[in-house]
Amino acid sequence: MSASPLAGKRIVLGVTGGIAAYKAIEVSRRLVDAGAHVVPIMTEAAHHFVGTTTLSALASEPVQTELWHNATSPIPHTFVGQGADLIIVAPATAKSIAAYRMGYSHDLLQNTLIATRAPVIVCPAMHTEMWEHPSVVDNIAVLRSRGVHIVEPESGRLAGGDEGAGRLASPESIVAAAERVLGPADLAGVSVVVSAGGTREPIDAVRVIANRSSGKQGYAVAAEAAARGASVTLVTTVSLPTPQGCRIVPVETAAQMQAAMEQAAATHDVVVMAAAVADFRPAQVAEGKLKKRDGAPKIILEPTPDILAGLGSNKRVGQVLVGFAAETDDLVANAQSKLDKKHLDLIVANDVSAPGVGFAHDTNAVTLLRPDAEPVEIDLASKRDIARVVIDAIIALRDAR
Ligand code: C5P
Repeated sequence: MSASPLAGKRIVLGVTGGIAAYKAIEVSRRLVDAGAHVVPIMTEAAHHFVGTTTLSALASEPVQTELWHNATSPIPHTFVGQGADLIIVAPATAKSIAAYRMGYSHDLLQNTLIATRAPVIVCPAMHTEMWEHPSVVDNIAVLRSRGVHIVEPESGRLAGGDEGAGRLASPESIVAAAERVLGPADLAGVSVVVSAGGTREPIDAVRVIANRSSGKQGYAVAAEAAARGASVTLVTTVSLPTPQGCRIVPVETAAQMQAAMEQAAATHDVVVMAAAVADFRPAQVAEGKLKKRDGAPKIILEPTPDILAGLGSNKRVGQVLVGFAAETDDLVANAQSKLDKKHLDLIVANDVSAPGVGFAHDTNAVTLLRPDAEPVEIDLASKRDIARVVIDAIIALRDAR
């Protein structure tokens, strides 16, 4: 299985003095989990917000702060930056952004930033007034023009109870940006639409027929496609954190998903139906809330449209169409028949009765089937790792054409 593009990479994580410094610890943990070697640097000011013990423990080596009397090297000002594959500054304060713009190398982090040829990701975090101040806007624009990657802050609750733009991007978004920067951009220029989550079919004004799909596998496919340079639309029934760089189209029912997918399929190069679409829906939806006192209602069901089969019949030349199949028995035979009937290029089949597989889990084990190729089994792995294999298979299909 292909590894994360972060595996084996030396990543300097620069932590500056902001309230969001505690989130850098989670960023470090995730980078290490992806196989990176994390070299943590804290500025003097960062020590006011987090201690070194946790970050040292969760990174790959002890935190460094000192430019002078540094135990790691007699010349730490160049040593750290020269050896890096990537530098991430998270959180980046207004002051550290200004210093970086000016090349003002007063501490170990700023020296590292200008003594490197590695790509740099800056993740600003500050109060809204500061983020919108012309000096910060200008500094960010200059950094961007130099090729520095900026992971924009989010809107939300800030220190002191304020609300607004300036909150540090989520650890997921920061790690996704690192994957994008270090990963192969082998889907650059390709548009991908992914559906995710289970549809909800209304019975009355408050009740629905739903299923156990969490949407996690679809989100992982969308995140991986975006990380590899694709422009990604995610048609979803769930509200998990938006993967970095994906455009969200929220839907609820099979009919809404059908409309969104048909519209997207007309313009996208790759279509992935990872959603668990209801096969049946109530034929009539009661207007208000059905009353308990009226007794158990008889709910007549009607079939929903098979969205994927429709997309298969109208597939555009060169388009790659991918389906998922959740099975409890005869995995390969059932998936094979769906592959043929729905005119798919690839189907990702999972045995949802196996432990750790399918709905709601963070892991999955799948079999990939293509027309005219032997099935490929992928053992239990994280949904993101499964997504990587699915995207590899999509790229192989496109390359073969
Ligand atoms: O036939 P089955 O439901 O097992 O097929 C699963 C695949 O078909 C999935 O990719 C799912 O998203 C898609 N599907 C669909 N519309 C339906 C039912 C399933 O697009 N009504």
